[in-house]
Amino acid sequence: METWDAIRARRNVRSYRPDPVADADLDRIAEAGWRAPSAGNRQHWDFIVVTDREQLRALSTVWRGAGHIAGAAAAIALVAPQYEEERPRLISQYDLGQATYAMMVAAADLGIGTGHSSVGDQEAAREILGVPDDHDVAYLIGIGYPADRPLRPIAKPNRRPIDEVIRRGHW
Ligand SMILES: Cc1cc2nc3c(=O)[nH]c(=O)nc-3n(C[C@H](O)[C@H](O)[C@H](O)COP(=O)(O)O)c2cc1C
Repeated sequence: METWDAIRARRNVRSYRPDPVADADLDRIAEAGWRAPSAGNRQHWDFIVVTDREQLRALSTVWRGAGHIAGAAAAIALVAPQYEEERPRLISQYDLGQATYAMMVAAADLGIGTGHSSVGDQEAAREILGVPDDHDVAYLIGIGYPADRPLRPIAKPNRRPIDEVIRRGHW
């Protein structure tokens, strides 16, 4: 897919075909996160690629919006250090968002769907993934081929009117 098509085709996919995603494709998706920019190039993140069905099922219970992870071919968990101070915490969230989106667009480019999930139960998520206590499992990304329809550029995305959002020169 062309970059512009991948950007327009990405959508949250929460229902997946049972087919596996090739390791090379998972590697590329994770590499897109690895290549993402971060404040000061700190890269205070780790990504855990999960394909084990029991782990995926267990991860689907860590948040009320994580149900789709159970049926995903794979998931990538984004792990970040815990911060006491507000500023590094905010920057970390920004950095994680960039990595997430890079991985999602890279997946869309391959025709592979992705779906975000937050994480509520940190203790459970850490236990499932063997993450140390001074880190959080910040987000999960479910990965798999869409069960409903292939990814195609979306002509009319569910967004606020573009002229209301994109302003020119001033508010
Ligand atoms: C920070 C963040 C957290 C999200 N958490 C969840 C979640 O826990 N479960 C879920 O199903 N979707 C989650 N989403 C997906 C959003 O609901 C979705 O991106 C939004 O509705 C726009 O839809 P689209 O991605 O299909 O364009 C999250 C998205 C973001 C950016």
